[in-house]
Amino acid sequence: MTETHTQGPQGEISIRVMAMPADTNALGAIFGGWVLGQMDLAGGIHAASHAGARAVTVAVDAMKFHKPVHVGDEVTCYTRIERIGRTSIAIKIETWVRRARHGTPLLVTEGVFTYVAVDSTNRPVEILNKQI
Ligand SMILES: CC(C)(COP(=O)(O)OP(=O)(O)OC[C@H]1O[C@@H](n2cnc3c(N)ncnc32)[C@H](O)[C@@H]1OP(=O)(O)O)[C@@H](O)C(=O)NCCC(=O)NCCS
Repeated sequence: MTETHTQGPQGEISIRVMAMPADTNALGAIFGGWVLGQMDLAGGIHAASHAGARAVTVAVDAMKFHKPVHVGDEVTCYTRIERIGRTSIAIKIETWVRRARHGTPLLVTEGVFTYVAVDSTNRPVEILNKQI
């Protein structure tokens, strides 16, 4: 399904990297797992910073791959908080690329990643900062 995204990126930049040849799949496009990994890192950075604690991934929902990522693309993950629970925080993550670092940004993936704030023994701890 092809979707048109008239709005630009939503959220703050949590990661910007270049897609490299080492991250390709057998077809020569960037491996989906690499993109997921970048999204997970981006959301984790945002969640941990907001919670003021370590944050571990507990769920990935509504994941969509709209377009392929190519070697040389500038890849940016935008993150914004959707919901804060007692110990969990759901973050909407959008990945946008600029082909060969030029041109109009394109939305390539999006998803909602949920993180849990944990203490040094990996037990859930309450997130005190409830402000979205
Ligand atoms: C995250 C973890 C510490 C939670 O421990 P737990 O004993 O299940 O904790 P709880 O049942 O109290 O749930 C904690 C929070 O996670 C939420 N949660 C649990 N499973 C969830 C799911 N599938 N989707 C969304 N939220 C979920 C709960 O609703 C709760 O949120 P709240 O406190 O805001 O209401 C534990 O599941 C864990 O260590 N998972 C592995 C994490 C990890 O290693 N991630 C990297 C994978 S490579």
